[in-house]
Amino acid sequence: MRDQHLQLLRTIELQRDGCAQAGSPLYVRLLNALERDLVDGGVSVDLLGPYGAAPVGDAVLLRLLAGVHRLVLEDRVPELAAHFPSVGGMPGPGLERSFLAAVNDHAGTLGGDLRGGVQTNEPGRAAALLAGFWEIGRAGLPLRVLEVGASAGLNLWFDRFGFRQDDWRWGPQDSPLVMESAFLGSPPRDSSIPVIAERRGCDLDPIDPATETGRNRLRSFVWPDQAARLRRLEGAVAVAAQGRARVDRQDGVSWLTDRLSEQVTGVATVVTHSIVFQYLSPEDQRSFLAVLDAAGAAATPAAPLAWLRMEPVGDRAEVRLTRWPGGQTRLMAVSGFHGPPVALR
Ligand SMILES: C[S@@+](CC[C@H](N)C(=O)[O-])C[C@H]1O[C@@H](n2cnc3c(N)ncnc32)[C@H](O)[C@@H]1O
Repeated sequence: MRDQHLQLLRTIELQRDGCAQAGSPLYVRLLNALERDLVDGGVSVDLLGPYGAAPVGDAVLLRLLAGVHRLVLEDRVPELAAHFPSVGGMPGPGLERSFLAAVNDHAGTLGGDLRGGVQTNEPGRAAALLAGFWEIGRAGLPLRVLEVGASAGLNLWFDRFGFRQDDWRWGPQDSPLVMESAFLGSPPRDSSIPVIAERRGCDLDPIDPATETGRNRLRSFVWPDQAARLRRLEGAVAVAAQGRARVDRQDGVSWLTDRLSEQVTGVATVVTHSIVFQYLSPEDQRSFLAVLDAAGAAATPAAPLAWLRMEPVGDRAEVRLTRWPGGQTRLMAVSGFHGPPVALR
């Protein structure tokens, strides 16, 4: 077996562990089927072969699985759909056979999905980021929220999502999305809802949640047996439909450079991102940090800057907040990659 195939098998193993840990028995079974297919020299050899050397962070397998999920959501593979809970099915004994048949029959379409990115837009991450928004909001200034890698921009609406835990409430309780018990321990009682002066994002390939094609694309990135995440997504899409948030089609570094070139006084500018940094090249990561540093050095008490991010550290996500003037960084929360449960720090 060629080296690249061995690497692919290792990537499958790591992805399978991640899916098992994050609670998707369906994807564990599909990854097992892919592994066997690769060893047997099946369709996945040609499909995945070109990505043999791709790092795990490129999430090649999740792109393929999302492509297959989209076929299910678009009603193009009815036999496989019968096994997918996201469309009312139930995983049965013929799952693996139907899956490999779908991959074989739609290899051309799936090849296109493999060239695209992972466009998950996970509203649960808003729960983790809240820890930082609460802290920034304490200064009392309206917020100018700038999200890099915003996908469909759903988390730009975080203040329109409701949260409740025991007798604690935050956000509109009649919102189409109310998250229950997202936090470990007690959330702070003195956290007000900030005024949002601007909500704007960018993405290399923004998804329009107002179209059925866009919504199916968003659904395709949710693991099909994770009903709670699918419900959260539908709620967030309904929230987003109540207003307009601009998501520019632009790469994060040039967009941030443009946005931060104009200093706005009387608002707190918040640069935020979740599960995005790993997709920037090392050079772009350096440029991104340099743009932030320069804007931070120019920040004033009347025009403060905050950098709020939720990014993977090992097998969990950490929410960190850096604020200027000053430039101090604090760990605000630790959570799962999709948000809850969120441990506040
Ligand atoms: C895993 S998704 C996360 C989306 C969203 N932040 C969330 O947490 O739900 C990563 C997003 O980053 C975007 N992305 C990747 N590289 C980018 C870049 N250089 N500039 C802007 N967006 C980028 C992708 O298109 C994708 O929508």
